[in-house]
Amino acid sequence: MKESIHNYDDLLEMLDVLLQENSQFSWNNFYANREKQIPFFVNAPDENLVSYFEQGFFHSGRALELGCGPGRNAIYLAEHGYSVDAVDLSEEGIAWGRERAAEKNIHVNFINKSIFDLELEENAYDIVYDSGCFHHIAPHRRMSYLELLNKALKPNGYFGLTCFIPDGEQGGANISDLEVYRLRSLQGGLGYTEEKLRTLFQDYEVIQIRKMQEIKQPNHQFGVPFLWTALFRKR
Ligand SMILES: C[S@@+](CC[C@H](N)C(=O)[O-])C[C@H]1O[C@@H](n2cnc3c(N)ncnc32)[C@H](O)[C@@H]1O
Repeated sequence: MKESIHNYDDLLEMLDVLLQENSQFSWNNFYANREKQIPFFVNAPDENLVSYFEQGFFHSGRALELGCGPGRNAIYLAEHGYSVDAVDLSEEGIAWGRERAAEKNIHVNFINKSIFDLELEENAYDIVYDSGCFHHIAPHRRMSYLELLNKALKPNGYFGLTCFIPDGEQGGANISDLEVYRLRSLQGGLGYTEEKLRTLFQDYEVIQIRKMQEIKQPNHQFGVPFLWTALFRKR
């Protein structure tokens, strides 16, 4: 690790390292046992994603999924008219996604890297979708996340997001950004209020923000009550 800061990227990397050093968590280990009772291990798309097609917002074009994990939403988008790039830093998550896509004979361009290392074409995507990645992004990376989003989306493109409500039953740390660095931890994922989401994405038009509908499994859709679902549009 670099021990001194010469530019903005060095600063971001140093803060990443300070948080990582304090954590035993690894997404590769998390995905190693696929039988674990983890809600989002089901092979079904988010209920809100399905509803965006039903409401006529999503049709066809290019989609980018951030933090796709085992690919359930990327595969749904690819099955429904989108050419999909799906990014995740976990090799295990991506391997699982590739298997799921192959079982359905669906093409998704899976990319195994951090979303912050993507080489993005400007204004290339009709949709950017993020289900459960954003709440694992540290506060010091939020500006980079917004830059990425802005660069990736076409004007009038949609940004779909699901993220933790504060103090939800499966996560959603209700702590300030400063507390993240005092604790040197995101406490398993940050909880967001509706107001905070509206403020963070204030340059975007809000199409809908609502809680996710709970859907009992097995089902062909996924839904848990401790997530926000939000759809924004680039102006
Ligand atoms: C809660 S999981 C959700 C996975 C998937 N979207 C789903 O809903 O099935 C969060 C995912 O974000 C990924 N992730 C976290 N930070 C990331 C980053 N900086 N770049 C790429 N992926 C990241 C993790 O590897 C993990 O697969």
